[in-house]
Amino acid sequence: MKGIDHPRNDVSLNASDNESILDVIGRIDTSRRRFIQGAAGSTALAAAGGLTLSGFMGTVQAAPIKGASGLSAPIGFKPVPPDLFPGTDRVTVPAGYTAQLFVAWGDPIMPGGVPFSGTASETAAQQRLAYGHHTDGMNFFPFAGRDGKPASDRGLLVANTEYTHENILFPDGQVGSGYTLAKTRKSQAAHGVNVIEARRVGTNWTVQRSSPYGRRIDANTPMLVSGPAAGHALMQVKDYVITDAGSVPTGSLTDGRKAYGTVNNCAHGITPWGTYLTCEENFNGYFGATSGSLPGVGTEAGKLYNRYGVSAGGSGYRWHTTDPRWNLDENPNEPNLFGWIVEIDPFDPRSTPIKRTALGRIKHESVQYVVDDESRIGFYTGDDERNDYIYKFVAAGRYDPKSKAANRNLLDEGVLYVARFDDDLTGRWLALTPDSIGVDGVALRDNPNFAGADDAEVQAKILIKTRMAADAVGATMMDRPEWTGARPRINGFKEVEIYCTLTNNNRRGTTPPSSNNPDGSTTAGAARPAADAANPRANNLYGGIIRWREDGRSVAATSFTWDLFVQSGDTRTTRAPLPTNDFKGNIVDDPDGSADYGAPDGLWFDPFGRLWIQTDQGGNGTGDFANLGMDAMLCADPATGLTRRFLTGPTGCEVTGVTLTPDGKSMFVGLQHPGDGATAANPEATSRWPHGQWAVASDGVTPLRPGRPRSGVVVITKDDGGIIGT
Ligand code: FEO
Ligand code: CA
Ligand code: CA
Repeated sequence: MKGIDHPRNDVSLNASDNESILDVIGRIDTSRRRFIQGAAGSTALAAAGGLTLSGFMGTVQAAPIKGASGLSAPIGFKPVPPDLFPGTDRVTVPAGYTAQLFVAWGDPIMPGGVPFSGTASETAAQQRLAYGHHTDGMNFFPFAGRDGKPASDRGLLVANTEYTHENILFPDGQVGSGYTLAKTRKSQAAHGVNVIEARRVGTNWTVQRSSPYGRRIDANTPMLVSGPAAGHALMQVKDYVITDAGSVPTGSLTDGRKAYGTVNNCAHGITPWGTYLTCEENFNGYFGATSGSLPGVGTEAGKLYNRYGVSAGGSGYRWHTTDPRWNLDENPNEPNLFGWIVEIDPFDPRSTPIKRTALGRIKHESVQYVVDDESRIGFYTGDDERNDYIYKFVAAGRYDPKSKAANRNLLDEGVLYVARFDDDLTGRWLALTPDSIGVDGVALRDNPNFAGADDAEVQAKILIKTRMAADAVGATMMDRPEWTGARPRINGFKEVEIYCTLTNNNRRGTTPPSSNNPDGSTTAGAARPAADAANPRANNLYGGIIRWREDGRSVAATSFTWDLFVQSGDTRTTRAPLPTNDFKGNIVDDPDGSADYGAPDGLWFDPFGRLWIQTDQGGNGTGDFANLGMDAMLCADPATGLTRRFLTGPTGCEVTGVTLTPDGKSMFVGLQHPGDGATAANPEATSRWPHGQWAVASDGVTPLRPGRPRSGVVVITKDDGGIIGT
């Protein structure tokens, strides 16, 4: 999602709050140090130029392991340069590759849909049959080919559309001639999840508009709620009959086991049994109070609003003014039905999506599963807010690769953990259960925030208030955890090794220092943590990637080792360095500086073991991103760190969402919010993408109409028919 609060804070860290790097080194034992590739010696440390945490991390990460790639397919493309201001307003891929537009906002993906007009004149009903607005995480689910193996020319592309830009969504912008329920309904219909049947003939990929699999799931789709929080009183809300004429209260409360819709579907995950997981991120912004003030300040509801960032005004949407379901004065518990991971079976168009409460309620960015050697399955997920946390869910049951039905409710029972990254490069997974002891020495069941009639109710409250439970047990506040990804266990690599982008944090190292209060009373994103080993930079403008290995190669481990895979940055920055942050980063690239990037967000391992990194925050390539240019996608070798820039996006866009066909020869990449910042009067003020780049879509026939920029998905092929990235 477009970044909120672009980092500007350059307040110096109070050095007295930081321990000496020598203290840190002294606690790293030899075996731990081995995880960090090319561990630092004293000479290297001296060469780092200072006894700071960032210097230490920078040194140890700068030296790649020679010849240790382990990739099934090498990284062989010729890198592309940064697309600097004012930008080409194009998607650029390496020589020998071709990108085409596969689908964009407004394209029909289901029977009855109408071709995109270019004027945004489409109604809510038409939007319900068309691709949603701001594309994000996605996955290609292949059909079985004639040989019974996964096909690479036919499958379901399932993709999130995260949010809407109302100035582009409507011909007259959000307000224009007035804000109406019809606008709310169209905006709601442009959110959610899209199921597209995709077919390739030659190099032409086509959206199968008449496919029975074509499906839109949006902010009003009926859903089930399952797992330990289902049915709790906090999950019971006013019930409505929802139509284009309005949301009419039925007069009764729900039973807390049903919900309508999903919003702010940022990134995603999949399960090994073939379902799609969509993650609800900044759900708080859609709610508001027409009274102008939040109900229940100081109450249980008020604390929940506060910790999750729900406010009377919301983030600028006006749904609550026309649809009482989103009006907190009318329906105060409705936000509790959001912030979950939702499981969808794309191969059953009649299936009801299920909100799986066992995986916790946070601003989920993405979710990554791992099956270990004992057939245990873990799911890793980050909470994208400044100073929030990284979690994992370990299912109680074992994964059964032979039976989809046997795994149907695996996501309903298990333990949710939150990560504590200790400064000796080890970490602990802290269980969020009634037994868990908080930093105040009190078990969560005895903490008033989670008080319940029995442990079942305590567990329900722990999950509804996941952030507050994590505060209570002393999790490590992170620099905005975004996507998680697991390094494939191939070619002799046997570790359970997870990576997570930490996109930035402009409050890290600011004063006076403060933490998320263990009583849950901290406002979302309001803490001011000092730099620590896992988040070593004050004013972490350019972010980085952290990774960890589970002890015993078990997803159920309660301890792990970790290091920083990379600190992103700008080699040529003119920013004055801070004691903990030189802003240059330590990206491993050749020549040095050739793959600089900032604000990593999307992160995904392809099946060949290569790490793909996508960025946010580039905007139009000015200010702190003047040397980095428009947002981009990079490819890195996890063993050596060696990184190359593979793609640059159009002006104002964010690059988010990537998936491959099983043969590795067609890659789908999402470009979100090109032309960001456009006005209703001039939607093409900064971007004319994609119609400015191509005349027709990847099917070779669908014309790309002018009128306004559109978020969309490109498909990339290699001209010699090879694997993408080689
Ligand atoms: Fe929707 Fe944190 O990105
Ligand atoms: Ca994101
Ligand atoms: Ca470098």
